Amino acid sequence: MIRVRFVSADGTRTTEAEAPPGMTLLDLAQNKDQPLEGTCEGQMACSTCHVIVDAADFARLPRASDDEEDMLDLAAGVSRTSRLACQIILDDGLDGLTVRMPGESRNMQGR
Ligand code: FES
Repeated sequence: MIRVRFVSADGTRTTEAEAPPGMTLLDLAQNKDQPLEGTCEGQMACSTCHVIVDAADFARLPRASDDEEDMLDLAAGVSRTSRLACQIILDDGLDGLTVRMPGESRNMQGR
């Protein structure tokens, strides 16, 4: 199993989780009641699955695709280590991953 730690947006709460290899980070987060909508269910069309990866763990992730980067540009509260959780497939190399929820969710109206 791959252990993942979810940290709340304000940093005060952590949730420990375990996933079998091949599960996406988004599915695991939703199983653990993390506040990620994942509206488009992994189609890279919404950015509501945005998470901020711990800087110490970021280099362990495969690079984001151009499509993912484009979608992250639209997400609220992005940081240098932001990723889309639906695009992260958990494997043994990611054991111990820590990710934080972004601080605000984007209102798609009014753009
Ligand atoms: Fe929509 Fe990840 S679920 S981009």
